[in-house]
Amino acid sequence: MSDKIDELQEQIEAESIESEEEAEAFRIQYLGRNQGAIPGLFDQIGDLSPEERPEFGKRVNALKDRAQERLDEAKARLQREEQAGGPDIDRTLPGRRGFRGSTHPLTQTLDEILRILRGLGFSTYEGPEIETDWHNFTALNFPPDHPARDMQDTFFLKDAPTKEPTVLRTHTSPGQIRIMENHAPPVRVAVPGRVYRNEAISYKSFCLFHQVELLYVDEGVTMAQLKQVLYSLARALFGEDVTLRFRPSYFPFTEPSAEVDVWWDDDDAEDGGQWMEILGCGMVHPNVFDAADVDPELYTGYAVGMGVERMAMLRHGIDDIRIFYENDARFLDQF
Ligand code: DAH
Repeated sequence: MSDKIDELQEQIEAESIESEEEAEAFRIQYLGRNQGAIPGLFDQIGDLSPEERPEFGKRVNALKDRAQERLDEAKARLQREEQAGGPDIDRTLPGRRGFRGSTHPLTQTLDEILRILRGLGFSTYEGPEIETDWHNFTALNFPPDHPARDMQDTFFLKDAPTKEPTVLRTHTSPGQIRIMENHAPPVRVAVPGRVYRNEAISYKSFCLFHQVELLYVDEGVTMAQLKQVLYSLARALFGEDVTLRFRPSYFPFTEPSAEVDVWWDDDDAEDGGQWMEILGCGMVHPNVFDAADVDPELYTGYAVGMGVERMAMLRHGIDDIRIFYENDARFLDQF
């Protein structure tokens, strides 16, 4: 008798239930009131001795529960499959990916530059894009007749929000003045942002681009420290074996001033590569300190201005600045 229970147990476990019809057949075969195998076992209980009955009853009940459980599970699974579009789904197919956007390549380069600078102790400040002529030029020691003030380069605002002459900032350097106006030294800060120039548009210049300005002012700041921070930045951006070249240059707001080039390997070039200018820099001019009410007898400082587009073009081998502003998905999807 108990062999019969074991046998049925095995049979129930081995049964496959893959459709509503098979589920119903399973129910009738094992649990059916009239001819089901398990109710049939209950009918045989009268043949047993009174001592055997409790144990037998318990085992048949357990078997019944197990059969019911298999049936319920199978029905639930079939219903899920039907909702999911029928049982013949290929479960080995990869799932559908959700659409994932990405940041613009300029944003990526800018974020990377600011991340490196944070590690070098620079905090971040953002100044206004509409700037007074005074912050953009005068305070930065531009003589009144300096060509950079020329209509050619600068977008002047006709309906200035203030009485002062107002421009779209032509560089992030006015950020230097705004920081020093509001914070006594020491300051060590990076100023990222958009700048605007009224220039002929070509593969290498656009009417808008991005710069990051650096300013470090404290007692005893030296040009050696400036070189050190630029090497650290360049190594982190372009690799450990990067080669830089410092060229003497002129900017009204720094003295001495330099432009910095990075050596770019190029197997097609005659000398195996070329120097690419990446930034301007120098020691803050005393007149700039005066304009911002910082004592030039007590403090020295360095300043740097770099172009973000230029950096991104070097990193990714891009040869036309305009592509950053065209929103062409075929370009953007690569980043
Ligand atoms: N503002 C300059 C420009 O846009 C770049 C620059 C040069 C910034 C030298 C500096 C600097 O801070 O020291 O051309």
